[in-house]
Amino acid sequence: MKSLTITRPDDWHCHLREGDRLGTTVPDTARTFARAIVMPNLNDPVTSVDKARNYRDAILPHIPIDTAFTPLMILYLTAHTSKTDIDAAQSSDFIYGVKLYPAGVTTGSAAGVRKLTSLYPVLERMAEVGLPLLIHGESRDPAIDVFDRERVFIEKELAPLCETIPTLKIVLEHITTKEAVDFVSDSGPNVGATITPHHLLYNRNDMLGHSIKPHLFCLPILKRSHHQTALLEAATSGNSKFFLGTDSAPHAINKKESSCGCAGIYSAPYALAFYADIFEHENKLDKLQAFASHYGADFYGLPRNQETLTLIKQEQRIPDSLAFGAKQVIPMGAGQTLAWSIQ
Ligand code: DOR
Ligand code: ZN
Repeated sequence: MKSLTITRPDDWHCHLREGDRLGTTVPDTARTFARAIVMPNLNDPVTSVDKARNYRDAILPHIPIDTAFTPLMILYLTAHTSKTDIDAAQSSDFIYGVKLYPAGVTTGSAAGVRKLTSLYPVLERMAEVGLPLLIHGESRDPAIDVFDRERVFIEKELAPLCETIPTLKIVLEHITTKEAVDFVSDSGPNVGATITPHHLLYNRNDMLGHSIKPHLFCLPILKRSHHQTALLEAATSGNSKFFLGTDSAPHAINKKESSCGCAGIYSAPYALAFYADIFEHENKLDKLQAFASHYGADFYGLPRNQETLTLIKQEQRIPDSLAFGAKQVIPMGAGQTLAWSIQ
């Protein structure tokens, strides 16, 4: 196959950051994706409709004029989030969900949730009004091994939540384990999951097997290869519960190549070409359009995009680094060649 025209995709999970960094991240995402769910884990988290509006207003001027890109804003759940906040979010025309970060599990999660059950009344209101809960699914218990945190979260927090509030719309974000694939597959139609290009492409051996690769460090952390296999099967299965979310999460080089390096991988500019390579390698290119462009919109109850995008079988080399505000960021696959390009 020499070219592939698909409905223009959306990114159902990305980090655009803030300040001068928006000058890199917004165009990089807007050149591929028609819409993106914008994560709210800023230095000052996006905990209210007003903050979401201000953040959106900061993003909009960076959208290139030759693209039609819509940022979909998300509220950050804290112990102080109220039913009134949920109603305000639902009646705004730019907020599409609420993000649960268990406190302390990842970048920008310090203001997150310590005791999920205390927020059940708020989550019940979300279920009533149909506002989705987007979950960073890792246990915040520091005694749990980092490779087990997703599995334990599913057992101890997610399963009880789904039992107590069975109508809540849930996206389990950036899933990394066979247990997550199985949980989502076995749940009702109101539970879906995003899958990143990095969790499809790499496993923990790639990060730690020969030398330490700080640019492959992300959270939830890369797992064993049999989990990677389960994710590949889920993404390419044609099951509408699994859809594209890059979790593109840039950090400046000095924050990655450090004695205390940040979690996050910058994939936005080449993400779709990565997904195309992955699906082709699995002999499932015919499943790419639905995963990238249909299932996420369907899950969120939004119209599928009308425009199309064409991928061509033309090699492109990923740059060694990219400008990132006044700093530099190393993109995923820096220096490598991709088989596909966007026309
Ligand atoms: O790797 C990650 N980076 N995982 C997250 O959950 C947060 C993200 C970030 O904001 O850097
Ligand atoms: Zn994320």
